[in-house]
Amino acid sequence: MLTSIRLDSSRDFPPSHYRVHLDELNNQWHLRFSRQGSKRHTLLNHLNFIDDVITDGNEYHIVCSGEDRVVGTWTLTSNQESAQCNLLIYSSFAGQGFGKLVWLQAIRRAKETGHSKFMAGTHIGNIPMRSICEQSEMKISNYREGSPLAYVYFSLDLIDQPELRP
Ligand SMILES: CC(C)(COP(=O)(O)OP(=O)(O)OC[C@H]1O[C@@H](n2cnc3c(N)ncnc32)[C@H](O)[C@@H]1OP(=O)(O)O)[C@@H](O)C(=O)NCCC(=O)NCCS
Repeated sequence: MLTSIRLDSSRDFPPSHYRVHLDELNNQWHLRFSRQGSKRHTLLNHLNFIDDVITDGNEYHIVCSGEDRVVGTWTLTSNQESAQCNLLIYSSFAGQGFGKLVWLQAIRRAKETGHSKFMAGTHIGNIPMRSICEQSEMKISNYREGSPLAYVYFSLDLIDQPELRP
């Protein structure tokens, strides 16, 4: 059972880690349910992406395991009162509980930064992501047809939300 993660708000991976990170971003099978999965990621466009996230006043975080290994990344972006989290747990660390823990941290962070809603949308076939949303007590707010898969949207009201526990 996973009990600890460290969230690092710096954009600075150890330089030796960029190759691993880009390989994960270009892993089309692992990212088949993500919009990022159809893009070709290079170091330059990834660094530009991080700059844009930060310049727009949003947050980019690295997820480290208890042993300080980088296991993924997440961003918290704002749209008026609502916040969204884009989450990537590397393929070699998927299914170990990291995603669920990060999601709870992202909800806490959204609340801390004054948002009243936390929103998420994912392909209907993304079972781990749907499970994470359901387990964090998010409610389905919408469906949208898509090809090849529909999207399902979740929403969580952060006002009066009791403290979430892993
Ligand atoms: C989706 C993703 C974030 C999930 O993170 P994760 O660390 O693998 O998920 P967790 O280990 O916390 O598991 C969450 C739940 O999904 C379940 N799950 C994980 N992998 C699963 C699988 N392949 N099939 C069915 N259920 C699965 C887990 O059992 C867990 O549920 P439980 O608590 O009832 O056991 C991660 O796999 C990922 O980064 N995927 C690629 C990018 C992506 O799709 N991002 C989301 C875009 S919207």
